[in-house]
Amino acid sequence: MTRTVPVGLGDRAYEVVIGRGLLDTAGARIAPFLKNGRAAIVSDETVWALHGPRLTAALEAAGIACPAVIVPPGEQTKSFAGLADLSDRLLALELDRGDLIVAFGGGVVGDLAGFAAAIYKRGVDFVQIPTTLLAQVDSSVGGKTAIDTPRGKNLIGAFHQPRLVLADLDVLATLPAREMRAGYAEVIKYGLLGDFAFFEWLEAHAGQVLSREPEALAHAVARSVEMKAEIVIEDEKEAGRRALLNLGHTFGHALEAETGYGEALLHGEAVAAGSALAFRFSASQGLCEAQDARRAEAAIAAAGLPTRMSEVTAKPFDARTLVRHMGQDKKAEGGRLTFILARALGDAFVAKNVDAAAVTAFLQTEGAL
Ligand SMILES: NC(=O)c1ccc[n+]([C@@H]2O[C@H](COP(=O)([O-])OP(=O)(O)OC[C@H]3O[C@@H](n4cnc5c(N)ncnc54)[C@H](O)[C@@H]3O)[C@@H](O)[C@H]2O)c1
Ligand SMILES: [Zn+2]
Repeated sequence: MTRTVPVGLGDRAYEVVIGRGLLDTAGARIAPFLKNGRAAIVSDETVWALHGPRLTAALEAAGIACPAVIVPPGEQTKSFAGLADLSDRLLALELDRGDLIVAFGGGVVGDLAGFAAAIYKRGVDFVQIPTTLLAQVDSSVGGKTAIDTPRGKNLIGAFHQPRLVLADLDVLATLPAREMRAGYAEVIKYGLLGDFAFFEWLEAHAGQVLSREPEALAHAVARSVEMKAEIVIEDEKEAGRRALLNLGHTFGHALEAETGYGEALLHGEAVAAGSALAFRFSASQGLCEAQDARRAEAAIAAAGLPTRMSEVTAKPFDARTLVRHMGQDKKAEGGRLTFILARALGDAFVAKNVDAAAVTAFLQTEGAL
C-alpha cells in the first residue's frame, strides 16, 4: 500500500509518497515536473552501486534522460569543496533552469544536492528520493538544505522545498543496522515531542520497525512524515514551533562536536542520548515526572541506542565545554540557551533563557567533569 502525505505550502506544496517499490515507478511520478525531459541524479557511491541501476532503468523507461553525478559518501562531502565539485559537474552537463535535480541518497546527498539546486543558476527544481531511515522521516521533508563549514554543521544553506519526495521502503533493506537505529532515534523523537499514542505504539513495535517488517515500517515512516509536515506547514522558516523538531539536538550537537561528527557517534545516536538527557534535565528542573524521563530512556535503550554520556565516550566530557558548544549552536539567540524540554511524554515545548549554570550542574550529575 502506498501512503501519501501532503505538505501544504501553497505554491510550494508537494507530496511525500511512502511505499514499497517506488523506485520502479519513479519515471511516471517525476515526469510531470520535467520541462525538457531531463533530470540529473545526484547520489553517493554506496547508494549508487546498490540501487542506481533500478532508478536509471525506471527513469529511462519513462523516456527521461538522466545523467548521474556520483559523490563520495560521508559528511565531508557536505562542504564548500563538495558543493564546488557538484556545481561544476552540473554545469558540465549543461543542466539548465528547466531541468530537475534528483537527490538520491541519505541526508548528506539530500542536503548537498538540495542546496546546489537552491543556488544553481539561481535555483532549479529538485526531487528527493531518500534512502536512509533518517532521510525518509526527517531530512528529505521540510526544505532545509545546507553544507557544513569548519565552524559548524549546516551553517551555510537555504530553504528550498522539493517538488516531490519518494520514500521507497524497499531501499532500506540494504541499510546497515546501525544506520537504521540512528534513523529510528528521529522516529522516537516525534513520539516524544508531540504524540504520546505514537510513542506507545513505538514502545510495542520497535523490534518490528528495526527489523523492517513492512507494515510496521510503513506506519513509523508515515506517522513521522505526517508530524514533520504538520509542523513545517505551520512554521516553515522556524520562527517558533518548528524548533520542537530539535528535541534532543542541543544536547546531541554538543556530544557530536566533542566526538568529531563522524563514525564515533552518528547524528541519530547523538539525538538518542540528547533526547534522554533533555527528558532527565526536564525532570531535574521539576518540569516533568521522573517516571516519564525513565520511560523515554527505556524506549530509546530498547532500540539499542545510547541514553547516557558514558555510553558515548570512555573519557568523561567536560560539562563547561559541552555548554559552550550549546551556546554556539545556531539556534541559540544572543547568548541565551534555548532547549526543547518536556512537560510529559508527547508534550515538548521551546524553553528560551535556560540558565547555562543549571545545565552545567545537571551535566555534572550525569557524569561530566
Ligand atoms: N535538512 C534537514 O532537515 C536535516 C534533518 C536531519 C539531518 N540532516 C542531515 O542529514 C545528514 C545525515 O543523513 P544520513 O543519516 O542519511 O547520513 P548519510 O547520508 O551519510 O547516509 C549514511 C550512510 O548510509 C549509506 N546509505 C544511504 N542509503 C543507503 C542504503 N539504502 N543502503 C545502504 N547504505 C546506504 C550512505 O552512503 C552513508 O554511508 C547530516 O548531514 C544531517 O545534518 C538534515
Ligand atoms: Zn536530527
